[in-house]
Amino acid sequence: MIVLETERLRFRRHEPEDLEPFCRLQKDPRLRRYVGGQPRTPEDARRRFRQMSRARSRRLGLWATVLKEDGRYIGYCGVYPHFRPGGPPRGREGALGFTLAPDFWGRGLGTEAARGLVDDAFARLRLSRIVASVDARNAASVHILEKLGFRLRRLERLGRRCLYHLELRNPSEPGGPEKTRVDPDGVCSVPAKTAT
Ligand SMILES: CC(C)(COP(=O)(O)OP(=O)(O)OC[C@H]1O[C@@H](n2cnc3c(N)ncnc32)[C@H](O)[C@@H]1OP(=O)(O)O)[C@@H](O)C(=O)NCCC(=O)NCCS
Repeated sequence: MIVLETERLRFRRHEPEDLEPFCRLQKDPRLRRYVGGQPRTPEDARRRFRQMSRARSRRLGLWATVLKEDGRYIGYCGVYPHFRPGGPPRGREGALGFTLAPDFWGRGLGTEAARGLVDDAFARLRLSRIVASVDARNAASVHILEKLGFRLRRLERLGRRCLYHLELRNPSEPGGPEKTRVDPDGVCSVPAKTAT
């Protein structure tokens, strides 16, 4: 089941043959540096894979992300359900996630994926809001979110880590989008206007 295509990427449901390349990615410390902090154990990687593979409709989920030119699995990206703490998903909202294999970084694919998924979530899925949470030191990711117009809503300190919680509102709905106020150097300062 193909969910979406962009210029160079195809997003589709995870299939059993994706397990092996997915688990290989989960062992890579570069990929996990700002997400989880350390490589996943094989058992944890398989559990995560099963979770992602459950998505059955073309609505919300983290999708297998493959290169259109040769079908190679290079990561997992998507807008997935945004759950209330300990409760059900929030209606008409989603959370953006994007992870690509380090061999493919720096070619604009992360931006292409995030932009395509966000546009689709607003236009086809009619979401009103998309959120994203990112380690403040994750400069590439922060930069992509900033380019897309995400706006800082809240800072969270987790020990020595600092998480940015950002949001983007559907530009075709009242209230429109606003610019992000994230400091890409990872300094934990929030303009008073954007702090909640
Ligand atoms: C985040 C991620 C998907 C980016 O993928 P990518 O294909 O390299 O992204 P792009 O090439 O589209 O863009 C990266 C942008 O960040 C910029 N960038 C990269 N490293 C940077 C740094 N250290 N400081 C500032 N900007 C940086 C690049 O210049 C580029 O910007 P530009 O297009 O305006 O020149 C990839 O790094 C990844 O999978 N990381 C691990 C998982 C992760 O952290 N996911 C995000 C969770 S919120």
